[in-house]
Amino acid sequence: MERKEISTESPIGFFDSGVGGISVLKEAIKVMPNENYIYFGDSKNAPYGVKSTEEIAKLSFDIVENLLDKGVKGIVVACNTATSAAVAKLRIAYPDLPIVGIEPALKPAVESKKNGKIIIMATPVTLAEGKFNRLVQRLGGRREDDIVPLPCPGLMEFVERGEVEGEALELYLKERLNEYKDEEISSIVLGCTHYPFVKETIKKVVGNNVNIIDGSLGTSKEIRRRLEEKNLLNKSDKRGTVEIYNSLNNKMINLCKELLEK
Ligand code: DGL
Repeated sequence: MERKEISTESPIGFFDSGVGGISVLKEAIKVMPNENYIYFGDSKNAPYGVKSTEEIAKLSFDIVENLLDKGVKGIVVACNTATSAAVAKLRIAYPDLPIVGIEPALKPAVESKKNGKIIIMATPVTLAEGKFNRLVQRLGGRREDDIVPLPCPGLMEFVERGEVEGEALELYLKERLNEYKDEEISSIVLGCTHYPFVKETIKKVVGNNVNIIDGSLGTSKEIRRRLEEKNLLNKSDKRGTVEIYNSLNNKMINLCKELLEK
């Protein structure tokens, strides 16, 4: 298929295993309101966080091809899991395409560290990958003991069901965080793009003094920088458009729209 030539008005493509990447898109719209966006959620194949890296990479490549068919000028991998499994391979395959991923925002957590632990909530794949371990080594230094990875299989499913509050979610979070209930916590890093939608319930469990951090602003600024470098930022002074696709059904598209408005 012949692809359209890209221009400053071409959309930026975002993708995630489901509705989670909307948390990144939301931030990007704040940073670049005049851009046009295409969002693809792969809810049919979710969760990615318990699949093999080969499978995740294959799914990511298929989505990127699909977004390129839709004429995107850059890609945001709005999924920590897909970033850890596929972003390096994607960059090799598409050397001229601005591709930005998201990784657990450990740096601001280390920089603003008070007493206590830094808990990184993410999928099992994200926490097991070499990329994450290198990040901990680079930033953690002697504080490595205070940096605690907390895999949360099952948590993204709450958000995919549109369940961002309530008893069952609270119970899940209490159980996950139980080990640290008598410990001082400096911050919690949300290393999965679904989790910012349950931030209020996390706060209910750990209290208001814990700093809860995610990487969506950093990622949004990074795609802006990368597009600027290539002179691809939209010069229009009109508010841009958002198109949403989902591999499962229209219900998920509606959920994305709801989360975008939240
Ligand atoms: N939203 C994805 C992330 O940021 C993961 C959810 C999944 O397991 O598919 O890691």
